Amino acid sequence: MAQYKIAWLPGDGIGIDVMNIARSVLDALEFDAEYPHGDIGWEFWRTEGNPLPERTLELLRNTDCALFGAITSMPKEEAQEALIPELKDSGLVYSSPIVRLRQEFNLHTNLRPCKAFDGNPLNLRDDIDLVVFRENTEGLYVGIEFHPLPAELMDVLTRNHPKMRRFGDVPLDDIAMSTRIITRNGARSIATQAFEYAKTHGYKTVTVVEKPNVLRETSGLMVRTARKVARDYPGIDLWEANIDAMCMWLVKNPQQYGVLVAGNMFGDIISDLCAQLVGGLGFAASGNIGDRYAVFEPTHGSAPKYTGQNKVNPMAMLLTTKLMLDWLGEDDRARRLETAIARVIREGDARTYDMGGGATTTEVGEAIVRRLS
Ligand code: NAI
Ligand code: MG
Repeated sequence: MAQYKIAWLPGDGIGIDVMNIARSVLDALEFDAEYPHGDIGWEFWRTEGNPLPERTLELLRNTDCALFGAITSMPKEEAQEALIPELKDSGLVYSSPIVRLRQEFNLHTNLRPCKAFDGNPLNLRDDIDLVVFRENTEGLYVGIEFHPLPAELMDVLTRNHPKMRRFGDVPLDDIAMSTRIITRNGARSIATQAFEYAKTHGYKTVTVVEKPNVLRETSGLMVRTARKVARDYPGIDLWEANIDAMCMWLVKNPQQYGVLVAGNMFGDIISDLCAQLVGGLGFAASGNIGDRYAVFEPTHGSAPKYTGQNKVNPMAMLLTTKLMLDWLGEDDRARRLETAIARVIREGDARTYDMGGGATTTEVGEAIVRRLS
């Protein structure tokens, strides 16, 4: 029996291309695993009305972790239109498989390292080394939303918050509301992981990115909790930054920062900003991590216009694979893979179009495999 069981979820479009490269690299590393395939993505929405079928969840429950390519998704009306005739009028609603995976497996932490590799022509600067910890299962993205606003809710809010009065005359149907829920446990967990990571990997600062001067309760709880956690890590400084100002600082002086920690939406925003500082979607890796399970995925989508063209950059997928190896404790293989990636970027002979080169996805994969052996 193989040492590991990795759920293999290529998904749609270029997800399939880059996962093929991940497989050849894992094989070259002599990584001892089985890779049971899981159905996920657009085809399963179209034909079964569920982009993440129950059998796939069952498969995931019986694996160590999952490696995931990308999926295609579409707005409500288009999703409805795409269903096979038998399913069209059955009242099915498309929901994001990624969000569902995060909730189903309580993948509370989104990890997004953004490091500038030497010689990458897409770097804003060459001395950037950022790691974003984004809370993944609370905050503004949990999907607790109302439209119209229920009358009872309006009533409770008006009685409990004076500022609600200014909306008292607005018809309920003309009010939409999304909630931002932060729990003390959620805040403590994400802050602790950020500090632990800083300690293990030698970062000197953790910056909490919120907006406590305006969001006094939710951002306030995040920042106050981060301060408490920081007391257990005497060698590491806690910096506090507002999300808006931080977007400027990250463009101006990204090299000054190390580990960043934020709630779900602000974390989402700075993750993309940080990714672009070091090469963009072709380099953006991520891990959705829980206490016992994790799903690793490049940040990019299925890029339909490049499907079947063997054109996109597999680096994001390979950096994602490296994150998976880290998480499994496969330190030596993780290091070897990162070294090979760094060499291919520095030596510059295999570059996809986004880096200004003409190499195919496969050629970049082969260049990495060569440096591994
Ligand atoms: P996308 O990330 O698929 O592609 C946007 C553009 O970024 C591409 O056209 C390409 O120019 C570039 N790009 C993406 N990955 C690249 C790579 N590895 N190397 C080089 N260039 C790359 O985002 P888009 O076009 O907005 O969405 C396409 C589909 O993917 C949609 O159906 C969307 O819903 C879905 N999506 C899925 C995600 C996921 O599976 N996690 C995340 C984002 C979008
Ligand atoms: Mg995003």
